[in-house]
Amino acid sequence: MKKTPFLVTGATGFVGRHLLQALSQDPEVLPIALVRDKKSWASQNWTHGLKGVELIEGSVTEPKKWKDDPRLQGLGGIYHLAAVIKHTRREPEEMLRTNVEGLLRMVELGAERNCRVLFVSTSGTVGCFATPDRQADEKSPYQEATVGSWPYYASKIRAEREGRKLAESLGVELVVLRPPVLLGPGDHRMRATSHIARLLRGKLPFIVNGGMHFVDIRDVTQAMLRAMRVSRPKPVYHLCGTTYRIEAFFQKVAELGGVPPPKLQLPPLAAKLLAKTSGLLDRFLPPRPHPILPDPVVFEMASKHWGLSSLYAKEDLGFVSRDPDATLRDTIQWLKENVPELKEKLEGRLKTAPL
Ligand SMILES: NC(=O)c1ccc[n+]([C@@H]2O[C@H](COP(=O)([O-])OP(=O)(O)OC[C@H]3O[C@@H](n4cnc5c(N)ncnc54)[C@H](OP(=O)(O)O)[C@@H]3O)[C@@H](O)[C@H]2O)c1
Repeated sequence: MKKTPFLVTGATGFVGRHLLQALSQDPEVLPIALVRDKKSWASQNWTHGLKGVELIEGSVTEPKKWKDDPRLQGLGGIYHLAAVIKHTRREPEEMLRTNVEGLLRMVELGAERNCRVLFVSTSGTVGCFATPDRQADEKSPYQEATVGSWPYYASKIRAEREGRKLAESLGVELVVLRPPVLLGPGDHRMRATSHIARLLRGKLPFIVNGGMHFVDIRDVTQAMLRAMRVSRPKPVYHLCGTTYRIEAFFQKVAELGGVPPPKLQLPPLAAKLLAKTSGLLDRFLPPRPHPILPDPVVFEMASKHWGLSSLYAKEDLGFVSRDPDATLRDTIQWLKENVPELKEKLEGRLKTAPL
């Protein structure tokens, strides 16, 4: 049987890893991973276990250089995950260019090949609020007043807007998925799991008390596969998980990880000032694997509330979010097994799941 090629951008990332693992199990699919550097791909252990994944080298912003590769003939669809994700106001240019132009170029490719484009955006475009009593569904407006000064979210709002306009004018089926923070095993670039790792390392000196919303990467992966295949998809799907107050979230992580919870809770302004000061210190201290504190933008984000609901994800995609404790337990277990400095610290301290 001839396999249908599907392009995956952002293949070397956390989401790409899970998606490629799932696609490579499908006998009818030929997963084609767009990677910027084949050597860096090959140097990552997790890629060695993937069977039948083809590689194309290139950037999402320059498809002219790779789109005529014969393996992309008869393209079945484009999973567009590639993005630059930095929660800071420093040097936003590359992030804006990659996140906005990258989607536009993939929509053009979708038009040329007459295939669906599935774009992984973020719940933050619509679901971030000053108070905990609000939720955004797929018809809610963009929250520019709240997130517009954070370049990552600003880039995703622009990408969604400009991508939709272009898709409509070219007649491309563009499906936007908006997940919140993604947790689970395999976050080898330590994006969303970095704060959990910080707590487990004993390096989370304080928190601010806003909210957070997370979902399991494995549930999102299943939703991506269905969103590529469902007939007559909606333009946008929210993939909702679990909402926590930050304090309760870290208490839960501490309990499951067998480490003390953060002792101190600071008002957002004080946290921001400390983060700014530590950012300055980081510039003068010798290079270190982790900054002393996250960027001030991270504390601004943590002081907000992230509310999300969906009108259609369950019905169209069969999307159901798993038990959040299972996600946290598996995240901690994976960090313990894969982050060398945590291995020793956590050895024997993990609580096992009840039978
Ligand atoms: N992780 C989360 O909590 C989360 C939550 C909501 C939404 N999302 C969205 O989900 C998507 C995937 O996120 P992730 O967590 O997997 O991110 P990630 O681990 O940081 O991976 C980002 C990927 O994008 C690629 N990339 C960046 N610039 C590129 C370019 N110019 N051309 C081609 N590839 C490029 C990177 O390739 P290199 O290896 O070459 O750098 C990498 O494969 C993103 O769109 C993100 O906004 C993530």
